Amino acid sequence: LLFCRRLLTRSFLGLIFLFSLSTSALYFIYSAPGIVNEYVFMVQARGIQIRENVKNIGAQVLEQVVRGAYSVNGTDYSYDFNMSESDAPPTTYLPEDFTYLPSQVCPERMLSMKGRLEVNMSEVSLEEVERSFLEGEPSIATGGYWKPNDCLPRWKVAILVPFRNRHEHLPILLRHLVPVLQKQRLQFAFYLIEQGGTEPFNRAMLFNVGFKEAMKDIDWDCLIFHDVDHLMENDRNYYGCTDMPRHFAVKLDKYSYMLPYNEFFGGVSGMTVKQFKKINGFPNAFWGWGGEDDDLWNRVRYANYTVSRPRGDQGRYMSIPHHHRGEVQFLGRYSLLRHSKERQKVDGLNNLNYSPLVSRRPLYTNITVSLSRKLAPIADY
Ligand SMILES: *[C@@H]1O[C@H](CO)[C@@H](O)[C@H](O)[C@H]1NC(C)=O
Ligand SMILES: *[C@@H]1O[C@H](CO)[C@@H](O)[C@H](O)[C@H]1NC(C)=O
Ligand SMILES: *[C@@H]1O[C@H](CO)[C@@H](O)[C@H](O)[C@H]1NC(C)=O
Ligand SMILES: *[C@@H]1O[C@H](CO)[C@@H](O)[C@H](O)[C@H]1NC(C)=O
Ligand SMILES: *[C@@H]1O[C@H](CO)[C@@H](O)[C@H](O)[C@H]1NC(C)=O
Repeated sequence: LLFCRRLLTRSFLGLIFLFSLSTSALYFIYSAPGIVNEYVFMVQARGIQIRENVKNIGAQVLEQVVRGAYSVNGTDYSYDFNMSESDAPPTTYLPEDFTYLPSQVCPERMLSMKGRLEVNMSEVSLEEVERSFLEGEPSIATGGYWKPNDCLPRWKVAILVPFRNRHEHLPILLRHLVPVLQKQRLQFAFYLIEQGGTEPFNRAMLFNVGFKEAMKDIDWDCLIFHDVDHLMENDRNYYGCTDMPRHFAVKLDKYSYMLPYNEFFGGVSGMTVKQFKKINGFPNAFWGWGGEDDDLWNRVRYANYTVSRPRGDQGRYMSIPHHHRGEVQFLGRYSLLRHSKERQKVDGLNNLNYSPLVSRRPLYTNITVSLSRKLAPIADY
């Protein structure tokens, strides 16, 4: 995320402001009803689709009104109000009694994928989540490995979750996401990459480490880069890969279910191993909070990829409320972002050294790694 700061006042709650201060920069302020944090966005005008956002704001307001009037009970897309994505093609889902064979590739769409999901954010202990899965689903192997046995998984997906000081979020994510991935008939495992040491959080470098470690396990073909506090609201948001890198977390509750700007690539994204290698992974040079996702966007674009996104409300997420607890913002990100292209070749998977501590828990692999600038030296460019 480029820039994001909490407003001190709550008096704007429920209101949306959009005003332009000059032709080169757009200041974009909103706060969502019922959400505790208010945010100010400063978004460079580059690429922002003003009209799109205005349309979306209209849609949000209308949705609230319509919902209130008809007390829609959210089964199977009844909350998909045809607003901004009315061009979404009708999707065909397989019939309930579809019998698939162990020798056939699993379908991407099944009737068991109902659309809207309940999100349960109540706190729960990791041990309890582990116990409940192992009782109900003994086919999950230590490390959180699972694959369907009634068809061949279409994708082998490594879920990479960077982590520091969020112990209460992890069991909430696992409780929510494991059943969805099983429904989607994907082969998967979870890798938690925890940053030790005292350096600022480096989300991007943790992903690079997680990728390298995960590939030692299994020949994964699809990678999901997942923040621990993001919970999908729709199980049709399929966590397989596509022929282009994919941004999954399109509509976040904390941004009033709007894309903050067109190049936003944060929260949850994914790509094939081949694509990830081609872009030389994430940058290692982003210490502290923010900017690394924008750099990833640039890398993807410079490799001549475009970014695909789920349609309509499939890309909705709720985030577990928190503050960037003790994590500093990375103020140097703007100058780094100006040199994304030159840095892409010299900073990423190819200049990374580290010594991890790897252990397995019932539902994930724990990769703990102490990071420092020395581990990713950058040659002059
Ligand atoms: C929810 O929807 C179902 C089927 O569409 C309907 O039978 C039921 O009465 C609805 N419930 C409420 C509370 O509106
Ligand atoms: C959504 O739009 C399609 C075509 O644009 C229409 O056929 C359908 O009835 C609409 N659905 C709702 C719920 O309005
Ligand atoms: C949410 O999770 C808690 C703890 O796992 C559970 O007790 C509760 O019933 C869940 N709530 C819903 C609505 O499923
Ligand atoms: C991307 O496309 C441009 C123009 O076609 C080409 O010059 C460039 O080499 C391509 N870059 C990569 C990384 O393939
Ligand atoms: C991962 O392992 C480290 C070192 O053993 C431990 O301190 C940490 O609590 C573990 N983290 C998680 C989330 O399991």
